[in-house]
Amino acid sequence: MAILELEAVEKSFPARGGPPTLAMDRLSLSVRDGEFLSILGPSGCGKSTLLQIAAGLMAPSAGQVRVAGRPVTGPPPEAVYVFQQYGRSLLPWRSVRDNVAFAVEHRPGMSRGRAREAADVQLASVGLTGFGDHFPWQLSGGMQQRVALARALAAEPKILLMDEPFSAVDALTRLDLHRLMLELWEKRGLTVVLVTHDVEEAVALSDRVALLTKRPSTIARVVETGLPRPRDAVEVRETARFLELRHELLDALLTRGGHAA
Ligand SMILES: Nc1ncnc2c1ncn2[C@@H]1O[C@H](COP(=O)(O)OP(=O)(O)O)[C@@H](O)[C@H]1O
Ligand SMILES: [Mg+2]
Repeated sequence: MAILELEAVEKSFPARGGPPTLAMDRLSLSVRDGEFLSILGPSGCGKSTLLQIAAGLMAPSAGQVRVAGRPVTGPPPEAVYVFQQYGRSLLPWRSVRDNVAFAVEHRPGMSRGRAREAADVQLASVGLTGFGDHFPWQLSGGMQQRVALARALAAEPKILLMDEPFSAVDALTRLDLHRLMLELWEKRGLTVVLVTHDVEEAVALSDRVALLTKRPSTIARVVETGLPRPRDAVEVRETARFLELRHELLDALLTRGGHAA
């Protein structure tokens, strides 16, 4: 069953003194309930635009977006959006615990104390037990991204929409976060839509990879990875199927810029 559907979605941005820029051209995509789907494409092709439209943060110029069968007119309650710039999305004057509590403290009937308890549970699930009293800027980039994840999960979303969440951390930290991501996805039965320009990341984590064309973006193709579950995000990189997919997708990105064959 589809939990998120985009149907013939178009987006154009006004351009000063010229015709509008068409960023997305009749893009259709159906995300299955519970899957891990990556959206892969070259820089500037429209990945962030696509995700923001799916998250109800930006209205499409044309086309339909549905979450759980309902038309999206604003941020749907089922989905949480994780920004690329996690450093900027955390509140520097709030402790790590209070940053996570922020996601739930405004709920009716929620006390400050209960929100903090809920935050500690989420912090434990991302491996940050004992860091609740720290401030975000006292933590490494990878740890800050874990805080951002904990805050997203505190809202108990069904769908996690993530915009290049691991692009700003070093390679080793990124692998660590990949493992954490798969663990959280498996345990919580989440649907994840991950935007990335990193072919290996897309293949290692996903059930399906949707390859975008250059701007104006549309879906060039959707590849079913067929890689096993449960899966170790590091060990899977040594399998023949991983290497085959990496080759195929890199080739598509490099030689055709993502355009359909
Ligand atoms: N708010 C905006 N106003 C005008 N143009 C925009 C805006 N947002 C994105 N664009 C343009 O749309 C295209 C896609 O951008 P974006 O979705 O950010 O790409 P990506 O995330 O794949 O790098 C780019 O050409 C970008 O310049
Ligand atoms: Mg982007």
